[in-house]
Amino acid sequence: MKNEKLKVIGFDISKTRIDEARKTSDKTGVEFVDKLDDFKFDDLKLVLLIDVLIFLKYEEKIELLKKIYSALTTDGIVFIKDTLKSDSFRFKYTYFEERLKLKLKVYGDGLAPELNYITPNEFVEILTKTGFKIVNLIPENQFIYPGIFIIARK
Ligand SMILES: C[S@@+](CC[C@H](N)C(=O)[O-])C[C@H]1O[C@@H](n2cnc3c(N)ncnc32)[C@H](O)[C@@H]1O
Repeated sequence: MKNEKLKVIGFDISKTRIDEARKTSDKTGVEFVDKLDDFKFDDLKLVLLIDVLIFLKYEEKIELLKKIYSALTTDGIVFIKDTLKSDSFRFKYTYFEERLKLKLKVYGDGLAPELNYITPNEFVEILTKTGFKIVNLIPENQFIYPGIFIIARK
């Protein structure tokens, strides 16, 4: 649903995925980009990081969160959905599937072929280190893909 009052940008490093996502722009009004060069990184109210942090190294996660922190308005929100790292079978299955996707280049070329899952405690650590206050952290183990949902405020 379009909302004329909101400017929504969707970013993914994969051109393949962005080209696919662009097909929905007419209906949603979301602008999709595969490069952030021209994007003005400030005055953001909400940033969603959906299943993307696992592809970044620990230091890269911190770097990105710092950038997001400084680009958010006062009280701005970062919402994170990622994989819940644990010893569960579900986690092992997800890990296997994600590795297979990377090998088969499901997300296209140009992705580092590594996965960097972190624990809920590490999420708290990197978020608080970058200045965020955790509003809610929900570890979810009931889905096929175990997830962690985090809302943090500037
Ligand atoms: C599991 S998919 C999630 C896609 C999308 N966020 C969604 O919720 O449907 C993971 C995505 O992360 C993207 N990705 C991996 N590394 C990235 C990076 N360094 N910067 C931006 N996107 C990246 C991949 O191209 C892939 O499309």
